[in-house]
Amino acid sequence: MLFPVFCIIQLLSLAQHGWAEEEFQWTQTERGSFYYGTFPPTFTWGVGTSAYQTEGAWDQDGKGKSIWDVFTHKKGKVFMNQTADSSCEGYNKVKEDLELLKELKVSHYRLSISWPRLIPTGIKAENVNEKGIKYYNDLINVLLENKITPVVTLYQWDLPQTLQEKFGGWQNISMVTYFNDYANLCFEKFGDRVKYWITFSNPWSVAVEGYETGEHAPGLRLRGTGAYKAAHHLLKAHARTWHTYNKYWRGKHKGMVGISLTTEWGEPVDISSQKDIEAAERFVQFNFGWFANPLYNGDYPQIMKEYIGNIQQGLGMSRLPTFSSQEKGFMKGTCDFLGVGHFTTRYITSRNFPFTQGPSFFTDRDLIELVDPKWPEPESKWLYSVPWGFRRLLNFVKTQYGNPMVLITENGISEKMHCAQLCDEWRIQYFKGYINEMLKAIKDGVHIQGYTAWSLMDKFEWDEGYSERFGLYFVEFKSKSKPRYPKASVQFYKKIIRANGFPNFREVENWHRISTETCSTTNQLLAADPLTRHMEMVTEIVVPTVCTLCILISAVLLMILLRRQS
Ligand SMILES: *[C@@H]1O[C@H](CO)[C@@H](O)[C@H](O)[C@H]1NC(C)=O
Ligand SMILES: *[C@@H]1O[C@H](CO)[C@@H](O)[C@H](O)[C@H]1NC(C)=O
Repeated sequence: MLFPVFCIIQLLSLAQHGWAEEEFQWTQTERGSFYYGTFPPTFTWGVGTSAYQTEGAWDQDGKGKSIWDVFTHKKGKVFMNQTADSSCEGYNKVKEDLELLKELKVSHYRLSISWPRLIPTGIKAENVNEKGIKYYNDLINVLLENKITPVVTLYQWDLPQTLQEKFGGWQNISMVTYFNDYANLCFEKFGDRVKYWITFSNPWSVAVEGYETGEHAPGLRLRGTGAYKAAHHLLKAHARTWHTYNKYWRGKHKGMVGISLTTEWGEPVDISSQKDIEAAERFVQFNFGWFANPLYNGDYPQIMKEYIGNIQQGLGMSRLPTFSSQEKGFMKGTCDFLGVGHFTTRYITSRNFPFTQGPSFFTDRDLIELVDPKWPEPESKWLYSVPWGFRRLLNFVKTQYGNPMVLITENGISEKMHCAQLCDEWRIQYFKGYINEMLKAIKDGVHIQGYTAWSLMDKFEWDEGYSERFGLYFVEFKSKSKPRYPKASVQFYKKIIRANGFPNFREVENWHRISTETCSTTNQLLAADPLTRHMEMVTEIVVPTVCTLCILISAVLLMILLRRQS
């Protein structure tokens, strides 16, 4: 036990040394003042969505079923048994949604391709769906015609159901080949125009929620083993795909292949406690480092190797799979850029009492997550706004992985309201705070190339159904046509994009005021459904009736007039 602890201390003191050089202090938790300034001229601004969350059209035009189609159709898996069968109808609203992107004036749009829409059974040799190819071709083309760069994710959780049924999904090593074939098809069909590829979005969630807790599709509860195995195969699939691109496509297409890792930041509760510092380190390593360390440094984090089921549980061997030295070499350096998704922060303390249940991912981490009661009450129970955590995470990325090129792939906040609410003051505050901390991180020397606000519009939020709204645009799910309405944050984000940052106090305050003013006008329009319905009634019933009456009255008047004249 002495040796690993020594290692951790050494690691931390190294990290601290690195930060000290950048005037970044691990121990300083207060938010500090707002930083006025602009981003580098080449910085890119975007928004994102994903296929299953927005497309709908789950069985249209030859699409195969995904594990999420099957999962949501089972009762009791998702909030109110909701599904994404139609969701935002994005599949049938490409032109309309393009207008939203143009309104925001974003320079990139992050979207994901649905694997079963392209390859219904998941196996390329069996069948490729030409209509699926056409859909994504058209989408990519209209984006480029409007000077919006597509950033394309290959896997945002919708594994073809057939692969789950036949092979056990990500539990099976054969996924590496099938995924690589699918990715290769995407490179072949779209790679002439798509230059930013993301293999996996939030593989942590795929592994832990899909195969450990079962909260997500495919809903398996393989405690203590399932997540590690799934992650092992996801990592191998990523590396294989990067090598495919590198060998066969890079020369011709000159694009980049990365991954998108989403993580919370973990801050030690007591910064003078070595145990808390170590626990916070474990929290981040068991989330971000689990995937980033193999890709940048060739192997799982040392802490994971030590904590997963050998030392503590007295097992002879770890439940964490191992990479051969050849595999390590194959894995290392397979990210042209690192996608970082981030939403919130937790305080971490070590656990001082033994676990009673058997081993699981969560007991392996051996820590407790806390929130600060002083943090503002969140809209969604898990998503506290803690902007300074973002800067810390970004500095961690810089120090641990050799300052890679970073693209922020997801950052945003939800609300938990079921009524129409367009005045999203808290979202404006969130973006303002988080984007400002990102600017500070750039000043710290972190190599951040672009930012993607999450998300363009309200959409299906996995096991939370439609109960959490992340959108800049509000979507009226109750209406069959799924209309979109801008929230106040649209105006605010637009201003940040146009100014490429925060020019000065007066201007930023002005943006804030104007955004909320515009919103109250729009909000009144939408306010409650009755008003909208009333207006629909006006146009659909009252207007035609009044017109008909007018014509009738004029006819009668004309007749009277004619009679008088005769
Ligand atoms: C969801 O389905 C389950 C099982 O049929 C049922 O018990 C439950 O009431 C349903 N929930 C809602 C909100 O309809
Ligand atoms: C992977 O799939 C193959 C083919 O169905 C099967 O023979 C094998 O047992 C599976 N392996 C695991 C670990 O499930």
